[in-house]
Amino acid sequence: MAGPAGRRDKNTVQSIRGTRIAVAIVIGILFGGIFAFLYPHGLFSPIQTSPFQGRRLSKSILQIGSTACESTERMNMLKSDIIDLSRKNDELKKQVRDLTQKLMAAEQKNGKAEQQVEVIGDPQKAGPFGSVKGIRTNPMVLPDSTVNPRLAKILKKIAVQNELIVVLANSNVKAMLEVWFISIKKVGIPNYLVVALDDGIVDFCKENSIPFYMRDPDEGIDSVAKTGGNHAVSGLKFRILREFLQLGYSVLLSDVDIVYIQNPFDHIYRDSDVESMSDGHDNMTAYGYNDVSDDPSMGWARYAHTMRIWVYNSGFFYLRPTLPALELLDRVAERLSHPPPAWDQAVFNEELFFPSHPGYIGLHASKRTMDRYLFMNSKTLFKEVRKDGDLNKMKPVIVHINYHPDKLPRMKAVMEFYFDGKKDALEPFPDGSE
Ligand SMILES: *[C@@H]1O[C@H](CO)[C@@H](O)[C@H](O)[C@H]1NC(C)=O
Repeated sequence: MAGPAGRRDKNTVQSIRGTRIAVAIVIGILFGGIFAFLYPHGLFSPIQTSPFQGRRLSKSILQIGSTACESTERMNMLKSDIIDLSRKNDELKKQVRDLTQKLMAAEQKNGKAEQQVEVIGDPQKAGPFGSVKGIRTNPMVLPDSTVNPRLAKILKKIAVQNELIVVLANSNVKAMLEVWFISIKKVGIPNYLVVALDDGIVDFCKENSIPFYMRDPDEGIDSVAKTGGNHAVSGLKFRILREFLQLGYSVLLSDVDIVYIQNPFDHIYRDSDVESMSDGHDNMTAYGYNDVSDDPSMGWARYAHTMRIWVYNSGFFYLRPTLPALELLDRVAERLSHPPPAWDQAVFNEELFFPSHPGYIGLHASKRTMDRYLFMNSKTLFKEVRKDGDLNKMKPVIVHINYHPDKLPRMKAVMEFYFDGKKDALEPFPDGSE
């Protein structure tokens, strides 16, 4: 027969035990809830270690709460887990911050979960008015010489400060390659490489001690060159350049119809993923302008403003070894590798400039248009510069005979004009082609 005291004792024991259970359950639910909130889809990959602890912890607490509350062993486990956790406190705080950002980004999408938004780097306070600058210079990739050890060896010898001029040539353009090479030699540029696409160019390079690289015929992309159609071959350039970037080098891609008058590396800014010469012929067309289109039928709203820029020239551009630059090369090569056939320069510009929109993720590459008088196209030279008493005294860095089909004689004339001081060398040529 249990007296009131005994019953009270038993009640007390029970209520203490009950309180413990309740506390454990509350803690369990609390922690479980927190972790379920923080890691709704399991764990984000870069932060595997400590969230794993968290999940293990919440599970063990819940077990204690629901079944084996009296197990002191488990309570000890819980204690050590908590100590563990508080040690990781700082790390967790940072993760919570990152995750909160991701959550907010997801919420902004209003339930239409599409792309996961990756937030890179720690959040920063914005500085005062006029002082903030977005990131334009992306980090370089980690050089990986296993991609092409033979090329890596060549580049180690040739490159200056991890950059070099690269030109692709086959025997059809041998005469132009010769002028190209003579101008480079006159300027004294040491860091350039000819990618020889056939044996004729290999022989030519050997005869003239021009540094060259011929790709291994067993390499996959060479079969593209041999068996692929025309547009497949035009994608070759972008595939070859990829390896240079993967090896950690910045590349100044050059066509052969270019005359060098100064060392271009003294005039590169190196602040963007892509730095390119323009096909533009004045400041507006080269650097961009607001082109107003007119639809009179709209009356009050007849004028619509459009953004225009003449294309970047895909025959002379500088790439830093960054992910966006690599992505650009991959995108262009991919599109050129299958129908519909496309002009590589058009594809290059579309990939570079079209923004993301429904059904499309645009490239996020930073870009810079080169100075149009220093990196001069042949329209600028023949329509404007040669006729202007001030401009024709300035020395460009390069002249690209991209606007004219009679490339070789114009290249030679440019050499005479800028190297030999022959003032009338450019005169025999019409502005455009006839
Ligand atoms: C063209 O652009 C250059 C460089 O920004 C500038 O120095 C020059 O004054 C501009 N010329 C004209 C006519 O606006």
